[in-house]
Amino acid sequence: MFNYFGCKYDYSIPAVNVCVCVCVYNMCVVFRSTLMLIGKDFRFGGRVRSGVVRPLACLFTGLSNMAKSKFEYVRNFETDDTCLRNCYIVVRLDGRNFHKFAEQHKFTKPNDNRALGLMTRSARSVMEELEDIVIAYGQSDEFSFVFKRTSTWFKRRASKLMTHVTSQFSSSYVFYWKEFFGEQPLLYPPGFDGRVVLYPSNHNLRDYLSWRQADLFWTLVQKGGLTTVQAEDRLKGTLAADKNEILFSEFDINYNTEPALHRKGTTLIWEKRDETVLKRMKLPSGEEKDVAATRSRRRVEAHHCDIIGERFWEDHPNVLEDDNC
Ligand code: GTP
Ligand code: MG
Repeated sequence: MFNYFGCKYDYSIPAVNVCVCVCVYNMCVVFRSTLMLIGKDFRFGGRVRSGVVRPLACLFTGLSNMAKSKFEYVRNFETDDTCLRNCYIVVRLDGRNFHKFAEQHKFTKPNDNRALGLMTRSARSVMEELEDIVIAYGQSDEFSFVFKRTSTWFKRRASKLMTHVTSQFSSSYVFYWKEFFGEQPLLYPPGFDGRVVLYPSNHNLRDYLSWRQADLFWTLVQKGGLTTVQAEDRLKGTLAADKNEILFSEFDINYNTEPALHRKGTTLIWEKRDETVLKRMKLPSGEEKDVAATRSRRRVEAHHCDIIGERFWEDHPNVLEDDNC
């Protein structure tokens, strides 16, 4: 692009754009002032003044104001939503009105493995696309994503983190629908709500994740036909092992034979796995040959296990950061 004087502009350089804006602004101011002087010195007839001079003056007044952006002050209405330093940032999303969505899409009761698989696939896409998520846990129509406590992604702005997670998850849910439901059509666009919660210690974060996993137990109890209040009343004071026994004998649920996916939900973490790939190598003789090469790659791996006890955390000591950060 060339200007009046034949110089070449490169509009991809921000400084050039700023200079151009300043020049346009100054030209507008000068043009407007000149018009006003002309209007004063030469006493144009009423028609020329109202039909030409005034509209032109207005146009340049508007342009000069826009260039200066008198509207810029509205930026000050934005509130600061930076998440507190050193805290784990948890984004939990939940399917909107999935009671109806499950019915309309004929989800099998009580658990639909296609639906659970699609939730996990979408969560995997969130972890692979967004930075700094160290662990994610999901069950039913919800998923929680934990950002590492020292993350500086998007300057730790809660709204940015939450909306990125929720929109990436929602678009993935639609994108991968066919992979799990085949020819069964998606009848309408599903939605997910999101929230951000901060946890200042490893202890609090583990309690949070335990709370979400324990929720699955109560969902199973409800499927046995009792309300949560009735079930809590009946199971009050019993030990974990007894709870399973009561579930089995009284509510006709064999908790231990339910698949781990239904009992424990899905935990996603990053793990290093050795991968063997075939590489085409040229030998000194000039001949080409496929040679097996092993390399270590980080991958998102799914687990359907207990995350309330110590075992999982002992087996994966790198998921959580030190409390002394
Ligand atoms: P809001 O989240 O408040 O918008 O309502 P919701 O209808 O989504 O309820 P909630 O999130 O509390 O519960 C999730 C609901 O999704 C369950 O109550 C079930 O009705 C449905 N759901 C989730 N997973 C499955 C599944 O695998 N099979 C079936 N049949 N239903 C499921
Ligand atoms: Mg829901």
